[in-house]
Amino acid sequence: MSTSSPCRVCDGAVSEFFEFGRQPLADAFLVPGADTSKEFFFRLAVGVCDACTMVQLMEEVPREQMFHETYPYYSSGSAFMRSHFENLAKELLTTEVGGEDPFVVEMGSNDGIFLKALADSGVRHLGIEPSGDVADVAASKGIRVRKSFFEESVAKEVAAQDGQADVIYAANTLSHIDYMDSVLDGVKALLKPSGVFVFEDPYLGDIVTRTSFDQIYDEHVYFFTLRSVQAMAARHGLELVDAERIPVHGGEVRYTVAPAGQRKPSEAVAKLLADEDAQKLGDIATLEGFGRSVLKIRDDLISLLRKLKDEGKRVVAYGATAKSATVTNLCGIGPDLVEFVCDSTVAKQGKLTPGTHIPVREPAAFSQPYPDYALLFAWNHAEEIMAKEQAFRAAGGQWIHYVPDVHVV
Ligand code: SAH
Ligand code: TMP
Ligand code: ZN
Repeated sequence: MSTSSPCRVCDGAVSEFFEFGRQPLADAFLVPGADTSKEFFFRLAVGVCDACTMVQLMEEVPREQMFHETYPYYSSGSAFMRSHFENLAKELLTTEVGGEDPFVVEMGSNDGIFLKALADSGVRHLGIEPSGDVADVAASKGIRVRKSFFEESVAKEVAAQDGQADVIYAANTLSHIDYMDSVLDGVKALLKPSGVFVFEDPYLGDIVTRTSFDQIYDEHVYFFTLRSVQAMAARHGLELVDAERIPVHGGEVRYTVAPAGQRKPSEAVAKLLADEDAQKLGDIATLEGFGRSVLKIRDDLISLLRKLKDEGKRVVAYGATAKSATVTNLCGIGPDLVEFVCDSTVAKQGKLTPGTHIPVREPAAFSQPYPDYALLFAWNHAEEIMAKEQAFRAAGGQWIHYVPDVHVV
């Protein structure tokens, strides 16, 4: 049954194109023995706005339920991502923050993975991060952090206290915030007229091309395209002036937005917009096609795991990602099909995965002894993980992938 709701970023209406059903919070790992009758579930479904083409969740979860003292995602767990953010910080040092006494603000600074290089270079900065434990880790690295949610009132307080910013940066955070009007009005107030707002998030173009449906979970409220970002920015006196596809987290775009009329949009903007039009990214028919591909992956993955179980094979998963909550709960993958998930995050180890309650163990458990198959939940970190787990394949183990389709290597 198709449903409709008001768009969060314009006056249009959002038409639903896919429903995942009841899903838990993707980062709500349980302590073994916890009262599972109290586990929180919500209806996960996605739709597209008929006016601005923004793809978004049909229902959102209150922010304090997702981002709090014990939010368990630590960005610095990936060496590849550490160098990704360090490279960007260095690049900005030579471009946007080369002037006198520059000021950089990051929303969603997490454990300081991006701001560290700027702090070490003596650049005036502020991380705005609501999740307590991860913010404490950043502070322990010498990073200046304010423990709050970025929103208009906070942005205005920061501007009054520290002055306007040369750069406001957000990685994998803007797409997490449903109250976009407040955020963009805050960005407008906090940014110097000559400044830029740079943000990077999973790209709808990649999600559709690769059927990476596991990018859809409670924390990801929006799935941006240049088209939808352009429309959203324009409503707040901002303008999309540059965009770049970046090969992280399965495919993202880094958007650069400036106060309207201040900078000439780059040729990349026109080119990527044309690519999106050719791909018909904003069309509900394209998105309904994506939904059919999701169901095929679900059916193929369940069949494969059941077949392996019938054959008496051991299957373990790798990476207790937030994304995997969508996969396990859509497919009904519990400890009967996957023995445990190994993950390097100490805060997740010894817990159970949300909804389907697979035990999470430390990476050392992977080789004691190796399973027959490993289901790669952290597929966006495949290169890094394959490199450190080479001995698994050498011992005869095989990896199960489900993006862009179910296959074994
Ligand atoms: N930037 C890091 C972290 C991404 S996870 C990276 O790319 O790896 C998203 C982060 O945004 C979390 O740390 C969460 O606590 C934070 N967050 C959520 N809502 C926010 C808001 N309104 N303002 C600032 N940070 C927010
Ligand atoms: P992400 O896909 O949201 O970044 O989450 C990656 C998860 O995988 C996170 O919980 C950390 C874990 N992980 C490992 O266990 N080993 C690794 O080598 C890497 C890169 C991540
Ligand atoms: Zn809209």
